[in-house]
Amino acid sequence: MPDFTYTAHPARIVFGSGTLERVADEVGRLGRSRALVLAGEHLHDVADRVEKILGPLAAGRFDGAAMHTPVEVTEQALAVLRETGADCVVAVGGGSTTGLAKALAVRTGVDQVVLPTTYAGSEVTPVLGETAEGVKTTRTDPAILPETVIYDVELSAGLPRPLAVTSAVNALAHAVEALYAPDANPVVDGMALDAVRHLARGLRGLDTDPDARADLLRGAWLAGTCLGAVGMGLHHKLCHTLGGSFGLPHAPTHTVVLPHAMAYNAAAAPEAMRRVAEALGAADAPTAVFDLIVDAGGPTSLRELGLAEADLERAVELAVAKPYPNPAPLTRDGLAGLLRRAWAGERPPGPTMIDGLTAQVVATFAGTEDPRLRALLTDLVPRLHAFAVANDLTQAEWQQGIDFLTRTGQACTDTRQEFVLLSDTLGLSSVVDVLDNSRTPDTTPSAVLGPFYVEGPPELPQGADVSAGLPGTPLYVDVTVTDTEDRPVPDAVVDVWQSNEDGFYDVQLPDLDGPVLRGRLRTDAEGRLRFRSILPSEYPIPDDGPVGAMLRAAGRHPYRAPHLHFMIDAPGHRRLITQLFVRGGKYLDSDAVFGVKEDLIVDFEPRTSPTPDGAAVEGEWRELCYTFRIAGTA
Ligand code: BEZ
Ligand code: FE
Repeated sequence: MPDFTYTAHPARIVFGSGTLERVADEVGRLGRSRALVLAGEHLHDVADRVEKILGPLAAGRFDGAAMHTPVEVTEQALAVLRETGADCVVAVGGGSTTGLAKALAVRTGVDQVVLPTTYAGSEVTPVLGETAEGVKTTRTDPAILPETVIYDVELSAGLPRPLAVTSAVNALAHAVEALYAPDANPVVDGMALDAVRHLARGLRGLDTDPDARADLLRGAWLAGTCLGAVGMGLHHKLCHTLGGSFGLPHAPTHTVVLPHAMAYNAAAAPEAMRRVAEALGAADAPTAVFDLIVDAGGPTSLRELGLAEADLERAVELAVAKPYPNPAPLTRDGLAGLLRRAWAGERPPGPTMIDGLTAQVVATFAGTEDPRLRALLTDLVPRLHAFAVANDLTQAEWQQGIDFLTRTGQACTDTRQEFVLLSDTLGLSSVVDVLDNSRTPDTTPSAVLGPFYVEGPPELPQGADVSAGLPGTPLYVDVTVTDTEDRPVPDAVVDVWQSNEDGFYDVQLPDLDGPVLRGRLRTDAEGRLRFRSILPSEYPIPDDGPVGAMLRAAGRHPYRAPHLHFMIDAPGHRRLITQLFVRGGKYLDSDAVFGVKEDLIVDFEPRTSPTPDGAAVEGEWRELCYTFRIAGTA
């Protein structure tokens, strides 16, 4: 399961039928005694009722809430708030009234009690969007979050049917995008799926089911909570663009765009779509949402909302202007297609035959007992299929691919691992290595094992010469192994291996007598280990097989930067496999297997003074001093 963080927003939710009657209790519960009632122009009656229920707690009234929360309106309301000496606001209405309440709260710190009459969801988010001189700005602050939300199903039933439909689809969009948000988490997923189920049931039952409005309101609350908890993607950004730059109405725009934005993301977010489809009781999420909107009588085209065909191009430009996280990459062509279909009111493209095939294959892994294996296989298949589709792979090309993989397998022997080499040269080994390393911060970075490690290397004493007298620049190695608290680790088993002066490992030199330039040593009581060797040189990875052919086809060189390998094992500690690279060596910035990390490039200091073990050395020798930090197994 991926890591996640989740912040719950501390709002009190009162949900039910007739809960409006509890508004005075809720104001009292906050310890407030003077409430300014906020409402939009068309909600006089409800605002009157609220004032009546509040009785002596009502300190005044402001009926001017307007769309997009203009700061001029906020200033007027602020004056009324001051005049009346109100210590809290009670907002009755949709997103505009809630927006005004938030704008007042963030300026003055007054408590908010919000009674939503639409399904906008903003009453449960700590986000405020305001407009000043036509420019919209958005800010997030815990002070913006309303303290109490009273959801009254009877009150929401006053929302005219067409508005109920578009407002509910607006809420549905929060839930759908939450499921594929980059910061998605299990709590939000659970709320989002419950929201999808209830919003769909409410929309389907609007004319027949007495509980439909309750379903919609519950879905709206949960979807709003998702909106406040995780980041939104393509759908919300597109709707903001269309609303902000072309003046299209908010909820109807959400209604038209949602099925198309979902279709755009479907292949890139298969699991989210599968879950939405399941919650809708349908096979395919985007088309099911479109059909749901049509059946509920919602709008389906941007044309009917007033967008001119000539504006489509500019809408695409605006939509790609600023990048943001989204499951599918944002391309001009892709977005142009999306917007054109949404403009014309087309049903989004349903699943292709290949989508069906992919789903069929994925389903065959559902019974895999090992959950990790199941997760990996069900993720791998759609990615492989998507690769074939995106590249329009031909039969002949895939046959070439299979031949390449076959040759890669056939090149493997006891002493040659061509598949590891393939993984290395594709950078995959290093990606896995970096992932692994990120789980043990404060330790020496790891590096790829490579194909030249041999199990059970010869045991050597402290101070041994692992080069067995092979020619090369003498190297004295003096390393220490510590834990992450810098305490020495004695008795650590340290395997070392390296190439000779010409860039060959012993296993590549059949004429050599026994293992050389490799050995197993142990740290002493101070965690220290000393041995003698020769300076490693850069070398080509084995390039006489299929991987070498691939490198040549790509015009890549096969060289590794000069390095020494270390594998460190100590009881109670995690194994560390790493390499130390010679500072100033060749190919440090173009290592053929992408194995170089800045922290692993170290000085192999040139010296001419007497050697540490007193052995006579003519001319220059090198000294490598280094401290490895290894992680505990806790
Ligand atoms: C090595 O450093 O031994 C190595 C690593 C990856 C591929 C080839 C060689
Ligand atoms: Fe190596």
